[in-house]
Amino acid sequence: AFKELVFSGVQPTGNLHLGNYLGAIKRFVEMQDREAQCLYCVVDLHAITVWQDPAALRSQIREVTAAFLAAGIDPARSIVFNQSQVPQHAELAWIFNCVARLGWLNRMTQFKEKAGKDRENASIGLYAYPVLMAADILAYRATHVPVGEDQKQHLELTRDIAQKFNTDFAGSITAHGHGEVFFPVTEPLIGGPAARVMSLRDGTKKMSKSDASDNARINLTDDADAIAQKVRRAKTDPEPLPSEVAGLKDRPEADNLVGIYAALAGTTREGVLRDFGGAQFSTFKPALSDLAVSSLAPIAAEMRRLTADPGHIDAVLADGAARAEQIAAGTLDAVKDIVGF
Ligand code: ADP
Ligand code: NA
Repeated sequence: AFKELVFSGVQPTGNLHLGNYLGAIKRFVEMQDREAQCLYCVVDLHAITVWQDPAALRSQIREVTAAFLAAGIDPARSIVFNQSQVPQHAELAWIFNCVARLGWLNRMTQFKEKAGKDRENASIGLYAYPVLMAADILAYRATHVPVGEDQKQHLELTRDIAQKFNTDFAGSITAHGHGEVFFPVTEPLIGGPAARVMSLRDGTKKMSKSDASDNARINLTDDADAIAQKVRRAKTDPEPLPSEVAGLKDRPEADNLVGIYAALAGTTREGVLRDFGGAQFSTFKPALSDLAVSSLAPIAAEMRRLTADPGHIDAVLADGAARAEQIAAGTLDAVKDIVGF
């Protein structure tokens, strides 16, 4: 049995939004109450799979770190670090490139979405992204990965890579005293009412950092007026809220707003509809907007305070990288031994 260990990451690719917070960062904070060691990574190697302006990237790395800390990740309890500062991620990714199969990668839907029509011109890194993600997770032999629903397919690939490595090298793993099974088959923790926050423009596209055209996206650094305006303008249908969750079926915009409310309030869709079933959006939206403002405003204020002192953020990252590397170096030593290096 593997010791429980939690790993997850966020890309420093622009404005963090409500989906990143509810689907990922808020849950990272909650995971800290478990017994397990948690590692939270700013995944800058993933960010450069599409072009990043170097100066902007540097400041976005600090901004994601600030968001982690401002949301409540405690760098004394959790390991908070930046991917590129721990060389074992890239090293293990190469070995996994030789374990993963082309056919597996060809099935990844996120690559197809991100590469778009000009696939020939996408970077090799964008294609191999899920292999690097497997390396991020398995460098620590993480057992649990809290992520949003969009990462489900990538987590399945991580599990496939772990299993194929364990099988391909079974003889060497036992012969060299590395146990019966070297890598855990990681559990994705996808859940809660906001595992997939949709754009407020319409309920059919996910809220995303990279969707530049989405001016309805609620960013973590938005002020109260901006949040209120975006909630007020959120697309809805004309019906009042149903009193049962079943009534949200085929009402993607209503379902999305109720899910967001539930995640912010720490309840379920059922819980929200107990209070708001039968209510018009003219009643529900102001309540949602007040809740979003009261949840996000303190985080935004703390982010501003933290980003004013980049030296402190860099020190947190340096300490985290040293602690992460200690774990990852142990894994890589064993992996090299197993592979025959
Ligand atoms: P993005 O997809 O916005 O570019 P990342 O790829 O850095 O952000 O994802 C960081 C984390 O946020 C991942 O766990 C991802 O699943 C989660 N996430 C991203 N968008 C959403 C969303 N709309 N709803 C819920 N979780 C999300
Ligand atoms: Na994502």
